[in-house]
Amino acid sequence: MDIQIFKTKDDLNKAFTDRLKEVISKKDIVTIALSGGSTPKSLFDDWAQLPEGEINWKKVKLFWGDERCVPPSDDESNYKMTKEHLFDFVPVPEENIFRIQGENDPESEAERYGGLLNRELGTTNGVPSFDILMLGMGDDGHTASIFPHEIKLWDNPDNCVTAIHPVSGQKRVSLSGKVINAAKNVFFMVTGENKAEKVKEIIEQPDSAKEKYPAALVQPESGSLHWFLDREAAKLLPRPTSPS
Ligand code: 6PG
Repeated sequence: MDIQIFKTKDDLNKAFTDRLKEVISKKDIVTIALSGGSTPKSLFDDWAQLPEGEINWKKVKLFWGDERCVPPSDDESNYKMTKEHLFDFVPVPEENIFRIQGENDPESEAERYGGLLNRELGTTNGVPSFDILMLGMGDDGHTASIFPHEIKLWDNPDNCVTAIHPVSGQKRVSLSGKVINAAKNVFFMVTGENKAEKVKEIIEQPDSAKEKYPAALVQPESGSLHWFLDREAAKLLPRPTSPS
């Protein structure tokens, strides 16, 4: 588990982007599962402003780790957020964008997307395996759309599951734990003071955290787990392990 703590979001986004470019440079095609919510917005804005060609988007196939069960035009849509902060500015070929169709029936969409992953991705031990899986974490310790009250979804045998937001009741489609942990590289991007308590618990007391928080169950078989934290999210850790 590699933990990097950054003074500013800009520093964090730059380091994250450098890791992305490093992975892209080694492969002809790179498969990336994007996270949603608000944390990625500034990262996508940075990618949108990179000099043309700095990221060869023709080499990148983009998926999502989860999606809200709403139409792509809805402000709640992770796809819409990504379009507004990234796709409207960079030349990602349409055929490289694999949207979770939030407008569909959730159960059918989970099945459809799970099958798509089997077709589009290489596998690790028979499980579809992303080159890069980008994750965020909620202040309740959820990741993707697997929430603490439904932590048992983590071990679902399917590639994708349907979930329910514990407060809003909003339906979600999410990768299951087995697909998350089959990723070659997992990049956790967590910022903000409201995440600090769970960050501390998950990093310092992983065994008890694994009982309660889906984010603590992210342990890719590849061993390539990278936490990108800002100082606020890391404020309760004893000291920066690798200050940046
Ligand atoms: C989503 C995300 C979710 C997100 C966390 C953190 O659909 O909301 O995929 O897992 O990463 O909830 O969200 P923020 O970045 O908004 O804090």
